[in-house]
Amino acid sequence: MKIALAGKGGVGKTTISAALSRYLGERGERVFAIDADPNANLALSLGLSREQAAQIVPISEMRELIAERTGVEPGAVGAYFTVNPRVDDLPDRFKLEHEGVMFLQVGAIKEPSAGCYCPENALLKNLLMHLVLLRDETVILDMEAGFEHLTRGTAQAFDAMLIVVEPSLQSIVTAKRIHALADKIGLRNVFYVGNMVRDDADREFIARELDGSTIVGSVSYSEEVRMALRQGQAPFELSARLVSEIGEMWDAIVAAVEDAPAE
Ligand SMILES: Nc1ncnc2c1ncn2[C@@H]1O[C@H](COP(=O)(O)OP(=O)(O)O)[C@@H](O)[C@H]1O
Ligand SMILES: [Mg+2]
Repeated sequence: MKIALAGKGGVGKTTISAALSRYLGERGERVFAIDADPNANLALSLGLSREQAAQIVPISEMRELIAERTGVEPGAVGAYFTVNPRVDDLPDRFKLEHEGVMFLQVGAIKEPSAGCYCPENALLKNLLMHLVLLRDETVILDMEAGFEHLTRGTAQAFDAMLIVVEPSLQSIVTAKRIHALADKIGLRNVFYVGNMVRDDADREFIARELDGSTIVGSVSYSEEVRMALRQGQAPFELSARLVSEIGEMWDAIVAAVEDAPAE
């Protein structure tokens, strides 16, 4: 199963990505949690320590590796580089393992407009394509809304994309924009999940606004989650309610993917 998560900033993409990954890890599934957000913080939410997280170098910043694989130093202007660099050894070489979850921080895609021909972008896109198309582990991808890391081929290989919303009109409006973008790049099975839901009125608001879309679950607003994140701990370890909501969400995701019409 390959799942990507997106949504407005602050809605809980990282919290839910981490919880889904830990849930699957605990069940003994082989799972890669991939942080592709330039403002990376999945490591802490998974439960890695502050010291471990501080030592992580995202793949996008491994200058020597990028030069070795693409033939060009990052930032070199006008140089030809390999658009299809070798990446098959990178997941195992750079992953961190924590509580049954394999974790990889890939880093940001560079703006091509910055005069950069971006060999690092070629490496990152190829790495994601490799993880999604050629490896059989489950992938949980925590990313920005823009899908810059995904080629069309990678996008089409995901089983589902989850758009996270909170009970706010802003997050709904952003979610619909993301959905349109997802359709455009060929992501199929775009489902929604609610987060920071406090009561039935919140749940009804989300259901009403997303009427006609598939909602595969929701996570309640929880002081335990908030406290865990404040202390740099994995919410999954502190909130039993989160664990049960994420379990239900996973079952609903699997069912929705199975129910989806074949391409
Ligand atoms: N279910 C929740 N209950 C309470 N606080 C939450 C919950 N989900 C997320 N948060 C809070 O919201 C903040 C943003 O969550 P995060 O997962 O980092 O969002 P995103 O990755 O979408 O930017 C976190 O710092 C956390 O404190
Ligand atoms: Mg995040």
